[in-house]
Amino acid sequence: MSVPGTGSPLRPLWWNSSARPGGALELIDQTLLPTQVATLTCTRLEQVWEAIKSLRVRGAPAIGVAAAYGVIVGCDEAGPGDAGWSDTVGCVCDRLSTSRPTAVNLFWALDRMRRRARELAGRPWSEARAALLAEAHAIRDEDAAMCRAIGMHGQHLVPEGGGVLTHCNAGALATSEYGTALAVMYAAHEKGRRFTVYADETRPLFQGARLTAWELTQAGIDATVICDSMAAVVMREKKVQVVVTGADRIASNGDTANKIGTYGVAVLARAHGIPFYVAAPSSTFDMGIADGSAIPIEHRDPEEVRVIGGRQVAPREAACYTPAFDVTPAELIAGIITEKGIIAPVTRENVARLIGG
Ligand code: MRU
Repeated sequence: MSVPGTGSPLRPLWWNSSARPGGALELIDQTLLPTQVATLTCTRLEQVWEAIKSLRVRGAPAIGVAAAYGVIVGCDEAGPGDAGWSDTVGCVCDRLSTSRPTAVNLFWALDRMRRRARELAGRPWSEARAALLAEAHAIRDEDAAMCRAIGMHGQHLVPEGGGVLTHCNAGALATSEYGTALAVMYAAHEKGRRFTVYADETRPLFQGARLTAWELTQAGIDATVICDSMAAVVMREKKVQVVVTGADRIASNGDTANKIGTYGVAVLARAHGIPFYVAAPSSTFDMGIADGSAIPIEHRDPEEVRVIGGRQVAPREAACYTPAFDVTPAELIAGIITEKGIIAPVTRENVARLIGG
């Protein structure tokens, strides 16, 4: 998928080396889509933190890449000397790691930046900074390559003349480019297959309606937005033959956390005999946890449920329950499409075999 009118791949964030001396992190402010495509330039740590927290940049892999670049932004702001820079890197990583708890890619990318900083201990800051920026670029580039490979491995699942259902946004906007679940659809589209994607609107923040439908229509893929409550009927009417979603964290047994509502979609898919697939890079696996019960679930501001587009839709007196993610048990997942191939059936042994330790 490309930026409208340019032919360049759609990227939600990038390092602009000429934004100011040393460069700055730039990102598409996703809270404004689909009606405005606006760029936000981040030159302060708190701007990066806020952009992640407020979902200006969102989606597990994209959060990881933003955090990696955020390390450079935070260090540039602090202006460390040759002696104290490694403490500064540690403090910046600690702060960024408090932005959102569920997507493991955030912690994975920050751990990688910390590890690189340890390898660079004793070097002057100018040298260390160049190496850390190169590491952030590598995280971005590797993510893009993993997304392309996911598309290649999963594209055959999209039926000619059929329908695919997806939940939330696991597209180019949620990664460094191309997406995970949507990569499967982009790759099928590139092979000339025709199909319709049913995009759950994805309450409360409408990532499906606002972002997935925008990306797909820009790419010339047939997209139909449905309210979350319509997925069962769409399945019973045989409009979709497969479900593909992304993931925020996958436990070592294959239990998968993704946007709230995904678990319900998986239950519906099982009830209708429709295969439910997850698409994710290896950076989304948390091999340190035994199962989905250990995945921390973010709870967000009740106002996100109570208010839609500035209009209050529930009484102030009523409480609002606000988990942002849920966990789909491995037994409901037909396969996990990774850059290394498809894990199927989803068992602890098969996850370990493909992803490792
Ligand atoms: O709250 P969000 O918009 O960051 O949630 C995003 C999702 O749940 C995506 O499906 C997931 O991160 C996979 S992105 C390739």
